Amino acid sequence: MSELDSSVPSIPNARDAVRALRPSQIREVANAGFGVDNVLPFWFGESDRVTPAFIRDAASSALAAGATFYTHNLGIAPLRAALANYVSELHGATSADHVAVTSAGVNALMLAAQLVVGAGDRVVAVTPLWPNLVEIPRILGAHVETVALGYGERGWQLDVEQLLAALTPDTKMLLINSPNNPTGWVMSRDDQRAVLAHCRRNGIWIVADEVYERLYYGHADLADSAASGAQARTAPSFLDLAARDERVICVNSFSKAWLMTGWRLGWIVAPSELMDDLAKLVEYNTSCAPSFVQQAGIAAVEQGERFTRELVHDLKASRDHLVRALSAVPGVDVKTPPGAMYLFFSMPGASRSLELCKALVREVGLGVAPGSAFGPQGEGFVRWCYACDTARLDAGVERLQQFLARHKTV
Ligand SMILES: Cc1ncc(COP(=O)(O)O)c(C=O)c1O
Repeated sequence: MSELDSSVPSIPNARDAVRALRPSQIREVANAGFGVDNVLPFWFGESDRVTPAFIRDAASSALAAGATFYTHNLGIAPLRAALANYVSELHGATSADHVAVTSAGVNALMLAAQLVVGAGDRVVAVTPLWPNLVEIPRILGAHVETVALGYGERGWQLDVEQLLAALTPDTKMLLINSPNNPTGWVMSRDDQRAVLAHCRRNGIWIVADEVYERLYYGHADLADSAASGAQARTAPSFLDLAARDERVICVNSFSKAWLMTGWRLGWIVAPSELMDDLAKLVEYNTSCAPSFVQQAGIAAVEQGERFTRELVHDLKASRDHLVRALSAVPGVDVKTPPGAMYLFFSMPGASRSLELCKALVREVGLGVAPGSAFGPQGEGFVRWCYACDTARLDAGVERLQQFLARHKTV
């Protein structure tokens, strides 16, 4: 070894903030299932169906036509325009200079966080929550405080006063995901109004993750005749209330409403004043979303309305089917959530949900996600993605019953 070599630190570690990130517990459960035959996977947040043909065809045509080059950082103009029309129809006038195309929702969340938070900043997040939202600000060195939803007779509920109290004037950003992964909770319009007013007064950025906005069953559940037209097609959104040039960044994705998880395409609606800085961040993260994927995105937004409505109809039927089936299992406490595509329920053994989910996959090949993967507030619950046909859901419930019969004393 030379003299120079001896000055090199012996362990090549990543920096502390990265080493402190929590690995995915869903992945940990999936790893426990390696080698188990015929696992029924309900653990990830995606449908078992492929992307609709008209979108795949649009991508093929774009590839055949040579759409293989870099694009503008903020996305191709026709897609930004198509998204501006789509958002305008659902949530009120929005011009293309408020829209940026991203490499799916998770990249949009990273970009939003990079825009507004830095090391030492205080961030507040409502939990239980898909872990990426909490870990992303931590990568940037921010400090994340959580406010937990409560669980009771009416399912998951937000104590809005508790959230407002946590939103102190030194808070930089609020992260809120509604419809929520994993609970299916949907923030009410009144709560959004109160939070927006409070954040306005205190100069706090709202980053609203609305990737499940179209997977909303609230109006149908309540037979809400007042909800018509665009309102009936989407969950309440901060975009319905906020002006386009205030401190609200809305994150969305093609993954859920058009079954495009593997395509990695999403978008941001944000103040136009942010766009030059956002373009720089896109440049240094990904440079742009893939060109032919953006072309396919135009087809999804412009021709996909019927598909999305049918999808929501089918998801609602699957949700209701699984709620009925699980309700009949002794010891399971399950409520009907108004949004997203998950049931987040308690069952015997779930107070140690990671161990329970590993045992479920090892012993009966049932793949569900542990509640603790969504923060300590999720412990005691299990998440089941119901975006599949009812026969497969029935097969899963049967396995759950086998497991419970085997572990009667749990
Ligand atoms: C709450 C939430 N936000 C964002 C995403 C990101 O999805 P994607 O990166 O596929 O757009 C997901 C994915 O499951 C999610 O559950």
